[in-house]
Amino acid sequence: MCGIVGYIGEEQAAPFLLSGLEKLEYRGYDSAGLCLNDNGELVVKKAKGKLKELKTLTDDGKNLHGTIGIGHTRWATHGEPSDVNAHPHLSTSGRFAVVHNGIIENYLILKEKLTEKGMVFQSNTDTEVIAQLFEYYYQGSLMDTVIKVLSKLDGSYALGVLSRDNPDEIIAVRKESPLIIGLGNGENYIASDIPAILSKTRTIYRLENDEIAVIRRDGVQIYNLDKEPVHKEPEHIEWDVDAAEKGGYEHFMFKEIMEQPKALRDTLHPHIQDGRVVLDEIHLTAEQIRSFRKINILACGSAYHVGVVAKYVFEKVLRIPVEADLASEFRYRDPIVDDKTLTIVISQSGETADTKEAMKEAKRRGSHVIAIVNVLGSAIAKEAHDVIYTLAGPEIAVATTKAYSTQLAVIYLMAIYFGDLLGKISDTEYKCYLRELQMIPDKIQQILDNSEQMQYLASQLFHAGDVFFIGRNIDYALSLEGSLKLKEISYIHSEAYAAGELKHGTISLIENGTLVIALATHEELIGKIVSNIQEVQARGAYVLCLTTEKHQELKSVAQSTVFIPQTCDMMLPSLAVVPLQLFAYYVAALKGCDIDKPRNLAKSVTVE
Ligand code: G6P
Repeated sequence: MCGIVGYIGEEQAAPFLLSGLEKLEYRGYDSAGLCLNDNGELVVKKAKGKLKELKTLTDDGKNLHGTIGIGHTRWATHGEPSDVNAHPHLSTSGRFAVVHNGIIENYLILKEKLTEKGMVFQSNTDTEVIAQLFEYYYQGSLMDTVIKVLSKLDGSYALGVLSRDNPDEIIAVRKESPLIIGLGNGENYIASDIPAILSKTRTIYRLENDEIAVIRRDGVQIYNLDKEPVHKEPEHIEWDVDAAEKGGYEHFMFKEIMEQPKALRDTLHPHIQDGRVVLDEIHLTAEQIRSFRKINILACGSAYHVGVVAKYVFEKVLRIPVEADLASEFRYRDPIVDDKTLTIVISQSGETADTKEAMKEAKRRGSHVIAIVNVLGSAIAKEAHDVIYTLAGPEIAVATTKAYSTQLAVIYLMAIYFGDLLGKISDTEYKCYLRELQMIPDKIQQILDNSEQMQYLASQLFHAGDVFFIGRNIDYALSLEGSLKLKEISYIHSEAYAAGELKHGTISLIENGTLVIALATHEELIGKIVSNIQEVQARGAYVLCLTTEKHQELKSVAQSTVFIPQTCDMMLPSLAVVPLQLFAYYVAALKGCDIDKPRNLAKSVTVE
């Protein structure tokens, strides 16, 4: 949800700012802009559209001068994508420039007040009020002004601020939205996320809520709202720079699909020792675990879809009622949660605003929270009682693939671990589940090695206007993800339906040639889904069926059939999701879509 970058040093700032923004485009890409202090003037250049528009406008940064600057890539919340709504925003006299990630909830009241005081607004954004507030309250001390301005803001923000009168400082502050500070030699940086500064440094500070950082060429000082210095230990980032590069692939999404076997091995490896599941991150006694009456899973988007799979898995293995809840719904429905409820939150970024707030709500009600998170040190990871990291590495493509798969792997680890502790699975089952789980990465590799089949099917079917994904039980949970993957990157309308529910309305949409993707992996219900396939075929549907190797007979039922290797029923989504990811990818590629940055989306959604 918007990317921020900043530079202060001896070099020209613009080229670095542009390269940093390139790494942050996954956070938003409807416009971008830079502001540099060029000999005492704050010069702003901004352009609607992807970063390449700004690059063209600035001749790759060559026609913007200055060794201190801030940049922004936007995902519109207030005001449509346009040049004028793009950040940075200047105050009326041009004395302050601001880039912002987040939402200022009281901006209308502030805007009204400032307009009465004679401030002239150019944009429809909430951010511009911040720049104007700086101007309004400035009386010579930048620090006092920052504190005053922050006291007026309701909402969430990460801010980068330039002041014309303080040409050797960048101010960075945050509340709820992430911001890091990179430490260099004679130069320093700010950014919304690590990839933006990895080419320059691996030493960072993570700014916390209500901290104010003053960034100069020769150092960084951090203060609290009482102007007291805050001491922080710098953190060393171990990331491999290549992990955030495309590495020869045309798209990050394809690279990340291909990385799944490794991501899964990396995630599973630390948690399987001597034939046992080890989850030391969970600080719960066996007695506490036995006391839970319910499990609540909170997440958004694909992470929520993992939660729906988890509902089927946990209920089957643990025999505990499980609710998978959309975090945005959970927050506001006075949920029934207490200390007898275990809450699991799932988030790749660890920053999703709805998930974070839902987690806080569950905590307030006394629930113990385990977070499954990919990004180290992210807000959700910090605030949960326990955190289990997926070791998927940086995921750049907006459409998640390897994070989804590694989240599922953690769910299976938890099912085995809790199943054993609660005495719900036998020794034989324990061994069998664990053996199957360890074989998943190789089986995914097998599917990836045959990716041409999905490429071929995509070439036959990419003209589809509407697609229905159907499945029963855990296949229904998987159909949610298959459908989302296809629609978010190919813009083909698609819906996921519990196969048994089709006849209660949606079947009226099936006509000659409608594409139905039937997921038929759940052994117990193959017969039922075959009936559903026949029902839609009778109405003219073209059926692509995904099933397990042993069900060769389905070849004669569906028009096209894709086979995946066998594993235990509950783990089949780990395998079945891969052809669906590939299908979505190839369809989007054939349609010429911007696969890594689909329209209107952002990877990290830090607003409600
Ligand atoms: C966005 C992304 C989705 C993601 C969801 C939740 O909508 O486009 O791919 O599943 O956020 O993100 P999280 O980081 O919490 O997993």
